[in-house]
Amino acid sequence: MSKLRLGLNVDHVATLRNARGGAHPDPVAAAELAIACGVDGITAHLREDRRHIRDADISRLRALPAPLNMEMAATEEMVAIAVALRPHAACLVPERRAEVTTEGGLDAAGQGETLRPAIARLGAAGIRVSLFIDPDPAQLHAAAALGAPVVELHTGAYAAGRAGERERLRRAAVLAGEIGLECHAGHGLNFDNVGPVAALPGVRELNIGHFLIGQAVFDGLGAVLARMRALMDAASRGGS
Ligand code: PXP
Repeated sequence: MSKLRLGLNVDHVATLRNARGGAHPDPVAAAELAIACGVDGITAHLREDRRHIRDADISRLRALPAPLNMEMAATEEMVAIAVALRPHAACLVPERRAEVTTEGGLDAAGQGETLRPAIARLGAAGIRVSLFIDPDPAQLHAAAALGAPVVELHTGAYAAGRAGERERLRRAAVLAGEIGLECHAGHGLNFDNVGPVAALPGVRELNIGHFLIGQAVFDGLGAVLARMRALMDAASRGGS
């Protein structure tokens, strides 16, 4: 089994930059530093309202020497941007304007009509598509039926401490492997809760943002990434 990949989500560097309307701190500079520190990929969410990452950020992130995972809603506008930009990967997420963050997974089972053509167009452009879904068997089966090669399991309920979520994630990871889906996970992960997620059977990639960027204020980005990497490696060695 190859090494569990860590993708750094740089959205919240842009949040901080936008708070003052200038150019600092630059999310692309943060991504460059993270790449120099050995992170496996960069994740950024180009939201419909551009509240953090902007179009120019995404283009500059695409030019960096690490895989870019573009989080996006399955809208005509975003699919067109992604097809033109050709990031390494696109993660389709639900988007509601009023939400603070991506609150729940995609309804892959109920939104097939929107998702199927988006997945097909992105895939035809050579972009690896993942669907950000709750760890629910119906959603996993729907993702496979829609032709998505990858799912990212939403770990928000687990991170919030909801009872039974760890087992739900484990079952979902096992099912993903059985039905031929590559399994990723993310949302709300930190030093204290990453272990069991990194140990999920067959999980290949974790995407982590808010905690790493926030903790970097105290420890520096390099130190924070090194600690997360060590915790992930230790847990994934003990897991699958
Ligand atoms: N994965 C996806 C699909 C997300 O939407 C987010 C949040 O933008 C993350 C991972 C990272 O979540 P967090 O910022 O809580 O680490």
